[in-house]
Parts: sequence; C-alpha cells; structure tokens
Amino acid sequence: MQFEVQRKDAAAASGDAVVIPLTKSDAPPRALQALDHALGGLLARVWEGGDFTGKASEVLSLPVAGITAKRLVLVGIGEEKSANAESLRAAGGRAAKTLARAKAKRAALAVPALRRVRPEDAAQALAEGVVLGAYRFDKYKSGNDKPPALENLVLLAPDARQIAALRRGAKLGQLLAESANFARELSNEPGAVCTPEHLAAEARKLARAHGLKVTVLAEKELEREKMAGILTVGRGSANPPRLIVLEHGAPAKGARKRPTLAFVGKGITFDSGGISIKPAASMDEMKHDMSGGAAVLGALRAAALLALPCHVIGIVAAAQNMPDGNAYVPGDIIRSAQGKTIEVLNTDAEGRIVLSDALHFATRHKPDAIVDLATLTGACVVALGEVACAVLGNDEKLIAKVRAAADATHERAWPLPLWDEHKTAIKGTVGDIVNTGGRNGGVSTAAAFLSHFVGETPWVHLDIAGTAWATKETPYYAKGATGFGVRLLIELVRRWK
Ligand code: BES
Ligand code: MN
Ligand code: ZN
Repeated sequence: MQFEVQRKDAAAASGDAVVIPLTKSDAPPRALQALDHALGGLLARVWEGGDFTGKASEVLSLPVAGITAKRLVLVGIGEEKSANAESLRAAGGRAAKTLARAKAKRAALAVPALRRVRPEDAAQALAEGVVLGAYRFDKYKSGNDKPPALENLVLLAPDARQIAALRRGAKLGQLLAESANFARELSNEPGAVCTPEHLAAEARKLARAHGLKVTVLAEKELEREKMAGILTVGRGSANPPRLIVLEHGAPAKGARKRPTLAFVGKGITFDSGGISIKPAASMDEMKHDMSGGAAVLGALRAAALLALPCHVIGIVAAAQNMPDGNAYVPGDIIRSAQGKTIEVLNTDAEGRIVLSDALHFATRHKPDAIVDLATLTGACVVALGEVACAVLGNDEKLIAKVRAAADATHERAWPLPLWDEHKTAIKGTVGDIVNTGGRNGGVSTAAAFLSHFVGETPWVHLDIAGTAWATKETPYYAKGATGFGVRLLIELVRRWK
C-alpha cells in the first residue's frame, strides 16, 4: 500500500472513495460545508435523518455524484473529548474494511483534528488502523470474489503546515502495522507449512532483506549447547526443532556499548499437547502457538527498518509438540541448558520448557533487559480474555516501562503477581522443578517456572495466550492472528533510555 499526504479538501479528492472520520461533536460538520454543497446537501440530510451521528461503531458508505471520488464513507470516532489514538486506529480499521467491501483500490482519508491527539500521532494511528484492518489471510481461498488490495491511500491534511508531521506519522504507522502483519501471516499459516525450519527460513530472509545478523541452531548445535529442553519437546515431531537468533544493531568491536534488549518468543509451531494430548475442540487454534516467536521476528524487522539505536536480540525457541513413539512422556526428567532439572508432569506445559533454554541463552548476551512473549497458559485467557496480555517479571522498573509501552500502543498488558508462593508451587519431587503447578494461579506459576532461567537479568514475561489471535472480528483485526506484541516491543525500544 502506498501512502501519500496532500493538502486537499474532501470534495476535491479523487479515487474510488473518500473517507471522513467524524466525532459526535462534528455533527453537523461545519468544516464540511464545501463538500455538503457539492453533494447537494446530502450531509445535512444524513444528519437530520439520524443516519449517521459520529458514534464510534457507525460507518455510512454511499455511492455519490457531485464530487471527484465515486463513494463517500463516513466513519464514527465517538465523543471528541475522549477521542484518542486508539479511536483513530479503530476508525482506520473500519475504513479499510469498508473500502474492501466496496472493492476500492484508490482512496482518500481525511485526517481529523482532535484536541488530545497530535497530528503526527493521528496519522500514525490512522495508518496503523488501515494497514492492520486491510490485512486478510485469504491465500488459501479459491474463487474470484476476493476483494482487491487497497493500493493507494491519500491522507488529506487539514493544514498545509502539518504535511511533514503527517508524512512522518503515516510512515511509522505503516511500517509498524506491516511488521505486525508479517507476524500475523506466520501465525495464520497451518502447522504443516509453518514448521520450526520454516520460521528459521523466514528469519534468514529477514536478515538478508534488512541487514540483520541471523544464527540458527539445528539439532547438532542444540546438542552442543545442551539445550535439552528444546530438543526434548521437539523429539516427537517429524519437523525438528530450531533455536533462531536475529540481531539488530550489535555494536562494532571497540565501539561504545549500546543498550541491549533481548526479546524471546515461544515458537511452538503446533501444540497438540503431546502425550498429554489436548481435547479435539479448538485444537486447530494451536497452530498459533508460535505467535510469540512471530512477534519477535516482526519486531526485529521493524527495528532494522527504523534503524533503532539499540542492540536488539530476537530469540525464537521453535519446536512442534507432538505425540509419538519417540515423544517425551510425563515423568521424564530434562536437564536444561542452564543446569536445572525439569520434572515433566504434563507434556502440554511445553512452552515453558523450550523457553527455559531460550531465556538462559538470552542471559549469556548480558542484556539490559529480557522480554519474553508466549502463548503460555489457558489460565491467562480465563483471567484476561482477549483484551490484555498478562505482565509479570522480576523488576518493577522494567514492568513499568513495558506497561507504558503497552498503554501507548493499546497492546494492553495487565499485571499479575509473581510471589514466593508461586515458586513454591513448582518445587520438584525428583527433579529441581516441575513443569506445572496445577490449574490454580496458572499464569503466575508458569512465570515462576520461567524465573528460574533468567538469573539476575531484569526480565518481563508477557503471557499473550488471549491476545495473540482474535476469535471474533474487531475494528482492525480479522478473526485469526493479531501480531500482538510487535508494536509494543518497538515502542519499548523507542522509549529506551
Ligand atoms: N499453548 C498452550 C496455552 C494456550 C491454551 C494458549 C489456550 C492459548 C489458548 C500451552 O502450551 C498449554 O497447553 N498450557 C497448559 C498448561 C497446563 C498443562 C499446566 C494449559 O494452559 O492448559
Ligand atoms: Mn501446551
Ligand atoms: Zn503451547
């Protein structure tokens, strides 16, 4: 998609459609008098008839005559006094979906002036909403009723002095949303396509395209590194496991040290549960169990394209969790790369096992912080639904930074405790720790397990089990993967001091 910014009135915009986001207090929109005149008083009649009032859920899409564009789309923003970046992201998403239904390829979108949102942030949020909202996973759909892609979107600037800021915002928003869409595409692919080696190949492609450093540990290297956690979980699958490392901005030898952030993602390319097999209902959703890993790859893509002045290390622990004659079984003891032994009580608690090796690997780079993202527990979905991930960790300052980035991007994160009692709950009988503390407090006991492998490094764990994919459509997501975490991670890096 090509974004442009022009100082132009809605009545003069060309293309298949012109989209105007409006708040409730824009009604009747005095700023749109020229447009209303060109449309022969249509807007005034729309308001009088109550066909559109500016409420956040409203969209009115009409073929029109009298203006250059072929269609007029009004999108509600809601109350002006509470309108924020998220209101614009949602409006952008609804606009993109409406344009797709109208089969529009070229369109214009008016940037509304809102009291609480700077023009640059408004353009960023609109671009994010449009690019996220336009994404569809329809490559396996046959037939020719697929809507065409939106090729060109002109942002209409209300003031010529804002053009530069709007361009900056739109460019950033587009890049972030495209990086999230990159992650969504990987997450939406079925397990038969998106294998651990497929994730590795995608990482190599990113490295080549954007100048990242890539290292992939296959079985031989995993053995050498004593990464028995990843190897054991992957052992029941015909698709062997990988540890994938992507690096951006490593300082040259002798150069000044830079902030170093390590992002670690759970990359279970399909989670059947293994020998502790899952029930059949919704098991298909477990193709998304590598969404944390996909978000890490998406974030590294964005970090490279933005040339962020930090050393960012992305680590993906990729394996497929399958039942097999050779698979690991409950009762098994695994000696992790870090040295602690893990007593397996349930092969479906596999994410924490692969993460044990990946987190330990991250600490070896001595980063200033580690953030891991994992679709780790069903308990997290029960606790927070699809609207927020859980945030836990060992460092209150880092937790506060992550929460600030989460609020800014609306990739919301809500704290749950990680207390000594949770650590006690996973003490082992024959091994050092067990891989499940039972049903109760599942998010916290899973985090307690992970905490064993980060040492003293400031660390935050994001349980994204509820947010990584949407089970119903939202203003800017379709059903399926959301790319959750990509925008949050980049916001964290951009704010890092
Ligand atoms: N990938 C699942 C967690 C999950 C479940 C994510 C549902 C999203 C939706 C994870 O590997 C898992 O199976 N966790 C178990 C842990 C239990 C056995 C301690 C769970 O949550 O049931
Ligand atoms: Mn599992
Ligand atoms: Zn899993």
